Amino acid sequence: MRLAFEVNGRSHAIDVDPRQLLVDVLRDDLRLTGTHVGCMTGDCGACTVERDGEIIKSCLVLAVAAEGASITTIEGFSGDDGLDPIQQAFWDQHGFQCGFCLPGMLFAARDLLAQNADPSDQEIRAAINGNLCRCTGYEPIVKSIALAAKTLRSS
Ligand code: FES
Repeated sequence: MRLAFEVNGRSHAIDVDPRQLLVDVLRDDLRLTGTHVGCMTGDCGACTVERDGEIIKSCLVLAVAAEGASITTIEGFSGDDGLDPIQQAFWDQHGFQCGFCLPGMLFAARDLLAQNADPSDQEIRAAINGNLCRCTGYEPIVKSIALAAKTLRSS
């Protein structure tokens, strides 16, 4: 099938197998390998991207479901102005170690902060409960998102 969609602001029209998952098209066809694959069952959140501004787990979505949509992957997270304030907060608070979960965590954080500018630690933990990290113990991630919230509120 022909799939026409936008990824990180760029239009694409490519042939895909109707059974192909969005994560595989992003990684294998478009070479956007910042979208990670952990579980392929929707549990780890490493494959999180935005579709028309809403976060989705791209391992659970057929590529053809992105027809006409605007997808943002981690490669398009920050635009052209260097690190986004959320990325900067993760950097400043050491919110990642191996980095495998980081793209999904950043999207989960952005989704939370778009809805709640001043989340409590408990609300931050609830927002990332679909994203697994095996390195940090989550504490630096929670601090990173709290710092990002503070930065965004003051900007
Ligand atoms: Fe999609 Fe784990 S690879 S949630």
